[in-house]
Amino acid sequence: MIEITFVPTFAHWQRAAREALQQELAPEEIAWQELSSHTPSLPIFEESTDASTGASTSTKQFLVPKKFVELAKQIALHSDEQRWALLYRILWRLTHGEPKLLEIFVDANVALAHEMAKSVRHDIHKMRAFVRFREIKNEDGSWFVAWFEPQHHIVEQNAQFFVDRFASMRWSILTPERCAHWNGSELSFTSGLDKSHAPKDDAIEGLWLTYYKNIFNPARVKVHAMQAEMPKKYWKNLPETAVIPALLNEAPARVETMMKSSGDKIAQDNGDVWMRAPVPETASLSKVAAASKSCTACPLYKHATQTVFGEGPKHATVMMIGEQPGDYEDVAGKPFVGPAGKMLDRALEEAEFDRAEVYVTNAVKHFKWEPRGKRRIHQKPSARDIAACRPWLEAELRLVQPKVVVCLGSTAAQTVFGPAFRVTKQRGQLLESPLAKRVVATVHPSSLLRQPDEESREREYKLFVNDLRVALKAAR
Ligand code: URA
Repeated sequence: MIEITFVPTFAHWQRAAREALQQELAPEEIAWQELSSHTPSLPIFEESTDASTGASTSTKQFLVPKKFVELAKQIALHSDEQRWALLYRILWRLTHGEPKLLEIFVDANVALAHEMAKSVRHDIHKMRAFVRFREIKNEDGSWFVAWFEPQHHIVEQNAQFFVDRFASMRWSILTPERCAHWNGSELSFTSGLDKSHAPKDDAIEGLWLTYYKNIFNPARVKVHAMQAEMPKKYWKNLPETAVIPALLNEAPARVETMMKSSGDKIAQDNGDVWMRAPVPETASLSKVAAASKSCTACPLYKHATQTVFGEGPKHATVMMIGEQPGDYEDVAGKPFVGPAGKMLDRALEEAEFDRAEVYVTNAVKHFKWEPRGKRRIHQKPSARDIAACRPWLEAELRLVQPKVVVCLGSTAAQTVFGPAFRVTKQRGQLLESPLAKRVVATVHPSSLLRQPDEESREREYKLFVNDLRVALKAAR
């Protein structure tokens, strides 16, 4: 048995695995040994010039599908130490006569790899959804601190998301393994906190103040520890050095903006760009839904947890269109699962609709919000947000081909009929639009929740159910 000791990141494992392949070391001959003193950190990915080459050297070339490299990068963040051996078993088989192994989903190794990658992705989502900051005020102003316990090594991978979302705040996310800090211009990392020190609500303040002193005042104690954790240039708080990380931070966004400045552009404002969403040409609704998950056509994706695409049977007879996902939907990744969704369910039941037979979607697929304290307050999507997202809705209509479309609220109705449409005047009528032959517009279910008293809520609810019945009759 040969022991390979390595720093547990994808890049280091990849290097070691290449070496092992060169020496024709079979998986059962290797014991993968993580350097235990090393805190897992952001993998430094080596991109090969040929995207499909996961392992190559000057002596021998090993070709693996690009898919494997992507999968391996995710699995590298998993907390199970056995992941390296699993990856090598798959790599070995891919390069020893089973090049299509990844397509065999029932294979035990492949299934386990997908399960691990899914668990990592899930953890990343969970962290995005459930990190809650607590504001700490001191003489230098506010700092927001959150405590989170991820299951996998995802803190560094996920930190940029929080930088994008909370760029104007100064914050720290403390975890047992790794802590991320953003001081408004620099992102830095320090070692984690022992679980036994996990802060309770009132303990977090003292904890944070200790951290604050250690991290941002290099004249204080633990300077060597800090130097080991992050390069000197990042904690040296000189004005001229502060500009460089800020520029580096802005670089990806700038490149993105430049790339977007050609082609199917709708609008540009303050460095943000709105494009028509890039819907793939396919007859598969699930492929369109999958493509929507990486949509960056308008700036809303930057602050949303995920794309919330429509859901329901592919050939549903009724399609309901809302405005945009709310806070609950943004976290769950499903449309109409929050309070408005519950109201909709109730009314559908009363109108004798089976929600399982209805395709439910939104005019805009990302949650638009603004922070108010800890809360995320819904913001109405703008005309350009709606225009950028429209190709997804058009694709849903084209592929589902519902007999009747129900527009829930004025955003959906104006998306379908144009800006002059007034729900108050034309609700509950069977109408025709360029997007769909039979459309019924009604109010948004959340408007029922906002009624000032029981009586008006009951009255509005009945009208809403009546409008749904018009749609149901047309569908049948
Ligand atoms: N409101 C909407 O318009 N859509 C949802 O999915 C949830 C709330």
